[in-house]
Amino acid sequence: MLRCLPTRHVALRLPSPALVSRFHTTPRASTAAPSGAETSSPANPIKNVVVYGSGLMGSGIVQVAAQHQYQVTMVDLGADHLKKGQGYIEASLKRVARKKFADSDAQQKAFVEDTLSRIQLSTDPEAAATTADLIVEAIVENINTKRSLFSSLDQVAPKHAIFTSNTSSLPISELASATKRQDRFAGLHFFNPVPQMKLVEVVSTAEVNPTVINDLTQFCLSLKKAPVNCKDTPGFIVNRLLVPYLMEAVRLVERGEATPKDVDTAMKLGAGYPMGPFELLDYIGLDTCKFILDGWYKEGKGLAGDKLVRPSERLNELVAKGDLGRKSGKGFYSY
Ligand SMILES: NC(=O)c1ccc[n+]([C@@H]2O[C@H](COP(=O)([O-])OP(=O)(O)OC[C@H]3O[C@@H](n4cnc5c(N)ncnc54)[C@H](O)[C@@H]3O)[C@@H](O)[C@H]2O)c1
Repeated sequence: MLRCLPTRHVALRLPSPALVSRFHTTPRASTAAPSGAETSSPANPIKNVVVYGSGLMGSGIVQVAAQHQYQVTMVDLGADHLKKGQGYIEASLKRVARKKFADSDAQQKAFVEDTLSRIQLSTDPEAAATTADLIVEAIVENINTKRSLFSSLDQVAPKHAIFTSNTSSLPISELASATKRQDRFAGLHFFNPVPQMKLVEVVSTAEVNPTVINDLTQFCLSLKKAPVNCKDTPGFIVNRLLVPYLMEAVRLVERGEATPKDVDTAMKLGAGYPMGPFELLDYIGLDTCKFILDGWYKEGKGLAGDKLVRPSERLNELVAKGDLGRKSGKGFYSY
């Protein structure tokens, strides 16, 4: 079971006896350095990680950090949200445990319990930030909501704490400018599903101190991820190349030149891609793709008005109908 922060920090108590019995009664600022981090950087300044958002991405980041010995706090708006995130983490950890310790139920159980023991839950964003060495924001993709969160955390987080955002489409420098620590603010872009995807894009603004980028790169390595460095441009590396490719596939189908199924088969068998573009669009969510595309077409730096990212009637129709892909049961395919 996941633990809640001491009551003097937050008010959240989930109604599980096991959870309550695991309440910490002392602050944990003095926790030992994570072992995963020790192997990659003896001077790793990151011990306590606070993740905002317990959705798809936030819960994955929490899980992976806890698996690699970090003390992690997962913050969300309410107990219901946290419970959902907790559910994702427990299910995913059990899958990892079954793979890692296929022959031993006891080892599986110990692995899951040990990892969960490093995770605390909070509905108090500011209290959670007070012991953070690293803040990872993975909340809703809305610039005003994110700026307002960062601005309030900036008042209470330790001066040394590094602030990061997992945003896929918002400029990191605009988020950083909501704080007075632009030199300690960067992008940390994980991929979905976080436990499986190796890549993390570490995104630099013009203001960030290079030692922060170095610390974040070491942090990613300690999670057994593969970090790449990139400047603060729309889509960073992966989405900048991927979104135009996906939209080119949609336009090909819009023109009636091939079916989604044939395009997917062609790209899997002809280009060696593990998923076809329509399978991937449905997996990502058509609303998410539309949100990114529209944002870039309207005001993406170097992309605004570019026909590479122009709106698509077909995509707009599907989103308007609520056919958003796998998550709604229907997109380009039915599930
Ligand atoms: N979904 C993806 O494939 C993906 C991939 C990479 C990056 N991202 C980025 O990660 C971020 C989160 O995406 P997601 O798919 O996990 O979203 P999600 O909707 O699954 O989860 C967002 C969570 O944030 C919580 N939240 C909202 N406002 C909050 C606040 N002020 N404080 C604390 N929690 C708050 C919500 O309650 C929700 O639980 C977005 O910035 C997105 O661009 C998403």
